[in-house]
Amino acid sequence: MAGQVIDGKAFAAAVRARVAQGVARLREEHGVVPGLAVVLVGEDPASEVYVRNKGVQTVEAGMASFEHKLSAETSQADLLALIARLNADRSVHGILVQLPLPAHLNADLVINTIDPAKDVDGFHILNVGRLGTGQKAMVPCTPLGCLMMLRDHHGSLAGMHAVVVGRSNIVGKPMAQLLLGDSCTVTIAHSRTKDLASICRGADILVAAVGRAEMITGDMVKPGATVIDVGINRVERDGKARLVGDVDFASVSPVAGAITPVPGGVGPMTIACLLANTLTACCRAHGLPEPEGLTA
Ligand code: GUN
Repeated sequence: MAGQVIDGKAFAAAVRARVAQGVARLREEHGVVPGLAVVLVGEDPASEVYVRNKGVQTVEAGMASFEHKLSAETSQADLLALIARLNADRSVHGILVQLPLPAHLNADLVINTIDPAKDVDGFHILNVGRLGTGQKAMVPCTPLGCLMMLRDHHGSLAGMHAVVVGRSNIVGKPMAQLLLGDSCTVTIAHSRTKDLASICRGADILVAAVGRAEMITGDMVKPGATVIDVGINRVERDGKARLVGDVDFASVSPVAGAITPVPGGVGPMTIACLLANTLTACCRAHGLPEPEGLTA
């Protein structure tokens, strides 16, 4: 029997609806409107699409959206000055600098200049450290979305063996920390791991975030495991451009107990969690109770 397909689109819509409810309550009861500032440097077409989608969904959730589009030649000093202004702006509760940045800019320095309380990406070194030590942090959006879907599917994750394939700062490492925080036994594997297949076969939860099209195949999955596919890879099939994940859906879905598809799985959760983080940051900034179920 084929595994259950986890509908990330529907799940993300439900998260956005909960965020919109929380935003409406903030506005009605406290006269506060959460604001998200997105900074885009340069004209990368994929980034422009992301930023446009973020702006639309921010407004749909009832929040204020501030877009700052800068030329590809923007200097480091000018970008840092903009971030300083956004840090000081009380109508801005969340700041996101779209990555990747042009090569002449120091992305680590830029991210670490963002006020950690407004760092809705969870990339600031303070938030990374807080997550790693179990302190209240802003948590990266994509792994937060994966965690929400896993909690929804399983209830408690305690004692499960989770294998995360991928060690990026944006997904793999924070994902592993979050699963550890939910009392999983966690293995981090990556492109250089020896005998990856047998390690993956030990997983009750398998998170693929390695950026290689369809590299996780059915023979690498324990029957009944939950498989979360974070990959978004553009490939050409039969002369047509297609999006595929890091998981070979055709061979894995008959083995898995549950699986997220690509597209329509993890992808839509990322912006939903960005909105959730902005609401959380706004509540924390005003000393108000945080919405339930939208944080780690
Ligand atoms: N570029 C691709 N994904 C992301 C993300 O989650 N955050 C930021 N800031 N840039 C990205």
